[in-house]
Amino acid sequence: MKISIIVAKADNNVIGKDNQLIWKLSADLKLFKKHTTGHHIIMGRKTFESMGNPLPNRTSIVITRNSDYSVPDNHHVVNSLESAIQLCIGKHLDQVYIIGGAQIYKEAISICDEMLITEVDASPDGDAFFPEFNKTEWKIVYDEYHSKDEKNENNFRFAIYERIHSIVQ
Ligand SMILES: NC(=O)c1ccc[n+]([C@@H]2O[C@H](COP(=O)([O-])OP(=O)(O)OC[C@H]3O[C@@H](n4cnc5c(N)ncnc54)[C@H](OP(=O)(O)O)[C@@H]3O)[C@@H](O)[C@H]2O)c1
Repeated sequence: MKISIIVAKADNNVIGKDNQLIWKLSADLKLFKKHTTGHHIIMGRKTFESMGNPLPNRTSIVITRNSDYSVPDNHHVVNSLESAIQLCIGKHLDQVYIIGGAQIYKEAISICDEMLITEVDASPDGDAFFPEFNKTEWKIVYDEYHSKDEKNENNFRFAIYERIHSIVQ
């Protein structure tokens, strides 16, 4: 099963402020929808609550330490990232997306195979950050550039990073 992170981060690694996204990038939302539709999406409880409702046509898996937490039918609550992954393996999925936020990305970056990163040309104030990662451990297998316009307030690059698996034991 391929484990993918999907994130939009600024040049300074900011991903959010006050439990909200910061920028308005219609083209990025379309990319997010295109990649995640039909799939299971794993997220922290705060990201789930920031969205208000489960995203349509996706199965949400929400990570929380609260054993009484509940989500609508056909979605799931788990108490760790590992339990979320085990749930997906048990369902024989080919692919799962980890959609944030900062706490979950920090844990997931060491176990994911791929990162779909929208690199936003901005350095806003924020209180949630994507972790630093070692670029030598990753190769960019795809990228596309988007210029700002009336529906996208910043320039951005959408890049897919694939983990380079060492053959040296
Ligand atoms: N730009 C992007 O692509 C993007 C994507 C997603 C989110 N965001 C932003 O990121 C921010 C939210 O990130 P965040 O770090 O504050 O919150 P988060 O990662 O979404 O959720 C944190 C919560 O997840 C649960 N959790 C975390 N680690 C856990 C563990 N090891 N075991 C069990 N439960 C665990 C805890 O829930 P309980 O407190 O219930 O126990 C914790 O409070 C928001 O600003 C949001 O807009 C940005």
